[in-house]
Amino acid sequence: MENNDMKTIQWFPGHMAKTRRAISANLKLVDAIVEIIDARTPLSSRNPEIDSLTSSKPRIVLLNKCDLADSNATSVWVNYFKKENVAALAVDCKSGRGLNKLMPTLKSTVLKALMEKREKNGMTGAPIRLMILGIPNVGKSSLINRLAGGKRAKVEDRPGVTRVKQWVRLKDNTEMLDMPGVLWPKFEDQSAAVRLAFTGAISDDILDIETLAMKLLVYLAENYPDSLKERYKVEFDKSDDGLALLEKVGKKRGMIVSGGEINIERAAITVLDEFRSGKLGQITLEFLPKE
Ligand code: G4P
Repeated sequence: MENNDMKTIQWFPGHMAKTRRAISANLKLVDAIVEIIDARTPLSSRNPEIDSLTSSKPRIVLLNKCDLADSNATSVWVNYFKKENVAALAVDCKSGRGLNKLMPTLKSTVLKALMEKREKNGMTGAPIRLMILGIPNVGKSSLINRLAGGKRAKVEDRPGVTRVKQWVRLKDNTEMLDMPGVLWPKFEDQSAAVRLAFTGAISDDILDIETLAMKLLVYLAENYPDSLKERYKVEFDKSDDGLALLEKVGKKRGMIVSGGEINIERAAITVLDEFRSGKLGQITLEFLPKE
């Protein structure tokens, strides 16, 4: 990917240091970690530091927004985590789909040893305590609302907003530690940042909106050509570059400005909005490398 046109990506090492300290300091208070990632970007939406920061605790990975991701690819990712000995579930925290498996999976696998110990010691009534970790916008508030069985205030993720540590009571005799601090994604490379911008996980202004939409269209034309044709009812050629694809979309949608030119900006906003809301179908942006 060419990056000359990309602005410097915002990275907040100071905030991350604070989050890192908060995670380490509070780890002893919880029984397990629930790591929530985006099923469309299972690698880029993970903060890789979670592995080392939480290695002493049992963990489950939730591949959230599975309603927006390619279900075949999501199954492959779930199996990948399982092979790595990390429990994983595909979920949709907006509708709640898949979440009914969370507590049974925690109890029967991730926390099996703890459950057995509690049984032996006559402590089966003790609550299960969880720490939910994930980058901004991945679905933490939606998950907590689902698990708490009622609408709670959005977890504030913005830098500069001070959150205090608090316990949130969930259903099924479970408690969650709502932690201060923001767990920023850590981009291994800039193409990962572009994928996060496609999904809206980070601000679009790492690139201008037209460039971002063009890159998305090129990706879709290569990996999901049928979804693209189906949505925009146009034929795309192999030789089409991002601009040609965007112009075809704009033309088809009648996005013409005075003088007959295509309104590229409007077309770009449309493509990104439609992708993010799932109107282009179920699409995954990262696949496991083929063996
Ligand atoms: P966060 O606390 O980690 O920052 O994420 P949050 O729950 O606020 O979710 C961010 C956005 O993602 C919200 O959309 C939320 O509805 C949406 N979302 C969360 N989980 C899912 C899911 O499984 N599937 C889909 N399709 N969307 C999900 P929003 O546009 O910011 O708000 P709203 O649409 O809920 O009003």
